[in-house]
Amino acid sequence: MSFVNRVAVVTGASSGIGWHLAKRLAAAGAKVGLVARRRDPLEKLAEEIANAGGVAAVAPADVGDREQNHNAIREVFDKLGPVDLLVANAGVGSPTNLDPVNITDVEQMFRVNVFGMIYAVEAVLPDMLKRGGHIAAVSSLAAYKGLPGESAYCASKAAVSTYMEGLRIHLRDKRIAVTTICPGFVKTPMTDVNEFKMPWVMEADEAARRIMGALDRRSKVFNFPWQTTLLMKLTRWLPDRMVARTMGPYNENPPFQKTPHGGAPAPRAP
Ligand SMILES: NC(=O)c1ccc[n+]([C@@H]2O[C@H](COP(=O)([O-])OP(=O)(O)OC[C@H]3O[C@@H](n4cnc5c(N)ncnc54)[C@H](OP(=O)(O)O)[C@@H]3O)[C@@H](O)[C@H]2O)c1
Repeated sequence: MSFVNRVAVVTGASSGIGWHLAKRLAAAGAKVGLVARRRDPLEKLAEEIANAGGVAAVAPADVGDREQNHNAIREVFDKLGPVDLLVANAGVGSPTNLDPVNITDVEQMFRVNVFGMIYAVEAVLPDMLKRGGHIAAVSSLAAYKGLPGESAYCASKAAVSTYMEGLRIHLRDKRIAVTTICPGFVKTPMTDVNEFKMPWVMEADEAARRIMGALDRRSKVFNFPWQTTLLMKLTRWLPDRMVARTMGPYNENPPFQKTPHGGAPAPRAP
């Protein structure tokens, strides 16, 4: 698929993977709608894209708020035209505590990661059902295993992957491609607060480059890198005691730092 003159919406474009992906989509000729809560970084990105000869429109919104989410997508439609590609990438992550359960963080993860994605899909679907299109969501390799201390983040990403799988099969024969993207560790503000050594961590721009390839191929599910994919899939077959032992030090001292821009605490899983 050529990205030239396609209208692409990227949620969570104000930092990390979304930022680099939006830049790469614009460089490939797409007109890009930039969605996230913070207007300033979105405007900076739009300026960078314009300076490089691309086209971008800024539409700030909290994607977990259905009305804001829909308004942002409508704003992109009004400025750039009908949406050809949605990349629902916005996400937050926090550890899951036992006593007390940090329910506010848990609710926020489901609100943003799951409902933020579903609201965006809801907003683009009526038009895509008429004209065709491509829907992608950034899930995670954490979707493949419920990790102790990360139960809610893993569950939210499993929900994203499962929703996307059902959507993909439902939209078969409707000229709408569906791509689920499951990255391993990527160096972004979300993971910058991690103190442990992240296996096979990659730069955000390299992740964006690989995601571009998956979008271009219209992959159904794109797991990367392969090493972390294998590790996570093997983890599914490990006895609970081994998983508990591996995650033990982490759970004895669960981190609760805030992300640099004051969002939810960072996740420890990919
Ligand atoms: N980094 C990794 O290792 C990794 C691995 C696997 C999957 N992922 C997933 O990749 C996606 C991008 O994460 P990242 O690593 O690039 O993290 P990041 O740099 O923290 O970016 C997260 C993005 O989501 C946006 N966002 C958060 N809450 C939002 C809300 N309520 N409404 C609108 N936008 C919101 C943030 O923008 P504002 O703060 O401006 O709203 C930001 O642009 C997430 O879904 C994450 O779960 C990351």
